[in-house]
Amino acid sequence: MERNTMIVAVDGYSSTGKSTLARDIARHYAIKYIDSGAMYRAVTLFALRRKLYDPVRDQLNEERLREALEQIDIDFLVDPQNHQQYVLLDGENVEQEIRQMEVSQSVSMISRYGFIRRKLVDKQRAFARRDSLVMDGRDIGTVVFPGADVKIFMTASAEIRTRRRYDELLGKGYHVSLEEVRRNVEERDHVDETREESPLRKAGDAIVIDNSHLTRHQQLQKAVQIIEEKTGKTTG
Ligand code: DC
Repeated sequence: MERNTMIVAVDGYSSTGKSTLARDIARHYAIKYIDSGAMYRAVTLFALRRKLYDPVRDQLNEERLREALEQIDIDFLVDPQNHQQYVLLDGENVEQEIRQMEVSQSVSMISRYGFIRRKLVDKQRAFARRDSLVMDGRDIGTVVFPGADVKIFMTASAEIRTRRRYDELLGKGYHVSLEEVRRNVEERDHVDETREESPLRKAGDAIVIDNSHLTRHQQLQKAVQIIEEKTGKTTG
C-alpha cells in the first residue's frame, strides 16, 4: 500500500538511549513519537495494582488480564511546552510510576505473553494510521512495522548502559544500588532476547548505531544521515 507518511523504527537493548534518540528524531522532523515500552510498563503496572501478577512466583492471572485488556485505555499526552510525553492509563498520568523499580523488575515477564503483545501491537499500529512517527521498542522493525521506511538498532556496552540507568534513577531521586541496576539490565536483556514471542533481535535491514561513545548530538546526526539515505527526506 502506498503511504506518504514516514515510519522510523528504533529497536535495541534496554538503556541504550533509544527513547532519547527517538525523541530527538521526532523533534527534528516534527513527527510523532511513541514509546512502546511505556505501553508494556502501563500494562505491568495495571497487573501489579490489581494483583493479577505475582512477581515473587511469576504467576499471572491470564484470564482476568485478558478480560481487562479489552477495557483498559492506554494513551499518550504531550506537553506542547516542553514536548515531554506522559503515559495515561485509563486517563491517569502514570508516567512516574511506570519508571519505578517495581515495574522495571516485572515488565519483561509480562511482555512475554502473546495475548498482551498482540493487543499492544494493534494499538501501536493504530497510532501510525494517519501520521508519520518514530517508535522505539524491541520488535518495532521486526513485528510491528516490518515495512518501516527506516530501521535503527541501538546498542551499547552493558557497563555503560548500567551506569546510564543508575545515573538516571539517582537523578530522579530513586534509591538503588549499582549492582541492583546491573542485574535488572542484564536480566531484561536475557528475557527480551530469549522469549518465544517476538524476541529482541535486529531486523535484517536495520542499521546498527553503537552509542557507547557517542554524544546525544552525534547519535542524532548519524540517525538523520541514515534517514536521509533511506528516504531522501532532508527537511528538519
Ligand atoms: O524500553 P523500556 O525499557 O521502557 O521497555 C520496558 C520493557 O518492555 C522491556 O524490558 C521489554 C518490553 N518491551 C517489549 O517487549 N517490546 C517493546 N516493543 C517495547 C518494550
